[in-house]
Amino acid sequence: MYSVIILVCVLVFLLHYLLKSPISGGGSRRTKLPLPPGSLGWPYIGETFQLYSQNPNVFFSAKQKKYGPIFMTHILGCPCVMISSPEAAKFVLVTRAHLFKPTFPASKERMLGKQAIFFHQGDYHSKLRKLVLRAFMPDTIRNFVSDIDSIARESLRLWEGRSINTFQEMKTYTFNVALLSIIGKDEVKFREDLKRCYYVLEKGYNSMPINLPGTLFNQSMTARKELAQILAQIISSRKQTRHDDNDLLASFMGDKECLTDEQIADNVIGVIFAARDTTASVLTWILKFLAENPAVLQAVTEEQEAIIKGRDTREEEKLLSWADTKKMPLTTRVVLETLRVASILSFTFREAVEDVEYEGYLIPKGWKVLPLFRNIHHCPDNFPEPHKFDPSRFEVAPKPNTFLPFGNGVHSCPGNELAKLEILVLLHHLTTKYRWTVMGPQNEIQYGPFALPQDGLPIKFTLKS
Ligand code: HEM
Repeated sequence: MYSVIILVCVLVFLLHYLLKSPISGGGSRRTKLPLPPGSLGWPYIGETFQLYSQNPNVFFSAKQKKYGPIFMTHILGCPCVMISSPEAAKFVLVTRAHLFKPTFPASKERMLGKQAIFFHQGDYHSKLRKLVLRAFMPDTIRNFVSDIDSIARESLRLWEGRSINTFQEMKTYTFNVALLSIIGKDEVKFREDLKRCYYVLEKGYNSMPINLPGTLFNQSMTARKELAQILAQIISSRKQTRHDDNDLLASFMGDKECLTDEQIADNVIGVIFAARDTTASVLTWILKFLAENPAVLQAVTEEQEAIIKGRDTREEEKLLSWADTKKMPLTTRVVLETLRVASILSFTFREAVEDVEYEGYLIPKGWKVLPLFRNIHHCPDNFPEPHKFDPSRFEVAPKPNTFLPFGNGVHSCPGNELAKLEILVLLHHLTTKYRWTVMGPQNEIQYGPFALPQDGLPIKFTLKS
């Protein structure tokens, strides 16, 4: 009896699956096009197990080798097209960006806030993007250099003589810088409360979305409410006192068409989310690569010491200036090479909003499309000897669309200048005043979801004699 029920269920499911499949329907020219090469695996399950039973990049590379730079697969209940050529990435992210909308699981939207920038396309997205870009463009963030410098010095002092988990400590640094750029001088007053709530919120980010008392998801949603309340308090006190701030909150509140408090809260939480772990992961990788490449570390240290030597001796303890950060070409190349080798965001997600033709293949409406950044960064045609850490390769600009650590097109990272600035400031103090040794073997990569050295890179951190 049970086997008959199971058989009927399987048949109903298969029928549903086939009817939903774009291969079977429609008579337009587009739907007659072939799908990209690849395999959809088992019904519903697809190739999820193959992807998650190993390092995901092994799965991507094996598929690319077998099928070429565009292939289809089926992951977590969704048919997907994965792309790994610079031209295809440009097509999806730039030239035909309107045909591919950003897509996230509903639980993530609820947690970060449905009105946050990365979930949108069209007019609302353009309006938000203008406001976010205004707060993070070089002319604005140059005003933050000395405050970032103070945050960097304070962080490093706390690590002196200790064994630390690099990623955990970097997260504190990048969180404090993110708050500074979002709420400016108010940052210090609200830092601890915002931090407490945000840390609870992030714990539930990868949990099952079950909103019942006691679950991680529920605790996250409660912390999220509290975060929104604290932000409402900051917004209300700003409304009462005139400010000439140039932080993100000022940009949101200064908008003529005025965002609601809820829209502001969703976007503040969203920007913290986008800014913190990404930059902290990159910093963690930089410490690992510098420790493994003493000649590069030596060259970076000399470049940074030259900035101090170039100063009047009375000014030696002076805070870094914007102009100082422009005297760091070699250190900048180390940052770029780390972004390439580590490729902390291995890929991003889009969804086709209609049937799209690409290179004679059909990308059906509703299918997910994943530009594979890491595969592009690790392709020998784009970067010879791709696994070698060699900052000098950035003495020459990379070929168009081959270097996408901050994405490309309408959703590309508006915080990239701030990320690079805070990394350079920290590296200045780190290399001129400190030493670090990596503890334990360091050959594995963790994905959580950003690529990270094993266990967050435990190190021993000491002041130079
Ligand atoms: C090294 C650190 C960082 C990396 C590698 C990084 C990478 C990226 C990438 C690849 C995207 C595009 C995703 C897509 O197209 O789906 C993105 C978007 C975004 N990033 Fe960053 N990011 C970093 C730091 C930051 C910082 C510091 C901020 C803010 C201060 C920030 C704010 C954002 C926002 C708001 C978006 C969404 C833009 C939109 O949808 O229009 N990111 N980031």
